[in-house]
Amino acid sequence: MTISLETLRAQYPGARKWTYLDVAARGLISHPVKEAIDGFLEQRMFDGGDKAWMFERIDSARRLVADLIHASADEIAFTRNVSDGLNAIAHAIPWKVGDNVVICEALEHPANIFPWYSLAGMKGIGIKPVEQENGAIPLERVIGAIDNKTRVVTLSSISFSPGFRFPVAELGRYCRKRGVLLVVDAAQSIGILDTDVRELGVDALAASTQKGLMALYGAGFLYVRREVADQLTPAYLSRMGVKTSSGHEASSGDVHDYKLADGAKRFDVGNFNYVGAIALERSLEDILAIGTRTIERHSCALAGKLAGGLAERGFPVFGSHRRDLRSHIVSVGRELSDEHDATQDRDMIRFYQHLTANGVRLTIRRGMLRFSFHLYNDDTDVEKVLELARGF
Ligand SMILES: Cc1ncc(COP(=O)(O)O)c(C=O)c1O
Repeated sequence: MTISLETLRAQYPGARKWTYLDVAARGLISHPVKEAIDGFLEQRMFDGGDKAWMFERIDSARRLVADLIHASADEIAFTRNVSDGLNAIAHAIPWKVGDNVVICEALEHPANIFPWYSLAGMKGIGIKPVEQENGAIPLERVIGAIDNKTRVVTLSSISFSPGFRFPVAELGRYCRKRGVLLVVDAAQSIGILDTDVRELGVDALAASTQKGLMALYGAGFLYVRREVADQLTPAYLSRMGVKTSSGHEASSGDVHDYKLADGAKRFDVGNFNYVGAIALERSLEDILAIGTRTIERHSCALAGKLAGGLAERGFPVFGSHRRDLRSHIVSVGRELSDEHDATQDRDMIRFYQHLTANGVRLTIRRGMLRFSFHLYNDDTDVEKVLELARGF
């Protein structure tokens, strides 16, 4: 099926209602996704629902997620969100006291900080912080922090603020050579950046589905490379995570001699978020039909135009000289602050109020205005913001 970006944009009423530049907080939902959700709720309301059909939806969503990131279906587990996926992998690793995790805390989302600190307390592992540099994580600093005790390096493929991308593939090659696990928080990149887990060399990747995947909160997935997953014992085990002789979800078989399910499926815990999976399945059909290469090119080009236009008008586009770091996110502000969703910069507060009063949806993160693009945006969105900037 071939589909154009224009046709897709027409399926998102929110993209007509607003200048919606906020996928970094949450993506819009399309008409077809809402219809899929409604269909499921009708089924539940009138008929109770068909479990076999629900399991088919899970299998289908799992295959589509695998296609999206060039993995195989047995490398995908369903989770609630990014935090859930990161905790699942973190608590399954057979740690030794004194092992360490390399992380740039200054730029990671709290979702990718607390799982490792909780482990530090429980298992006696060390945290090796990497210093940020002007909103970026320098690759050489991450590599420099790795030592013989490093078990895991973890980072976001794109930071939530200022929204710079990290050269994951270069680090992946290094980590594989050193036998260090690379765990990626893909909250901001999934559904927008073209993602091939084999090329990137990641061992685990956690994502949620309400941002670039344009589905629901409370539904996420965890990719774990098959060779790695097969060595891990999940902290939480459920009937979904073991091999059953009859194949029925509720048959326990020989509980004294159970075998963990192959690959990442061992991380599935109990019944699934079926409505979340149904929304994801429908959204992924469109994402895969248009292709993430096209989405990445389109979203980053729009972000580049906005960054260029705002910089020309004298707005402080953060890191505008670092083209190599750019993504679909543009942050505008003088400096990265510690405030999560506020800024003390009066000019930025006034600009934010001017934009929101005129129908632009965006967020403030780490003291800056954050604009973010997806497949449902087009040039008119960039022009609208530049027009408002002109009149500011
Ligand atoms: C980089 C990053 N990680 C994680 C999250 C959220 O984590 P969770 O899905 O666990 O709420 C966000 C934003 O919500 C994010 O931007």
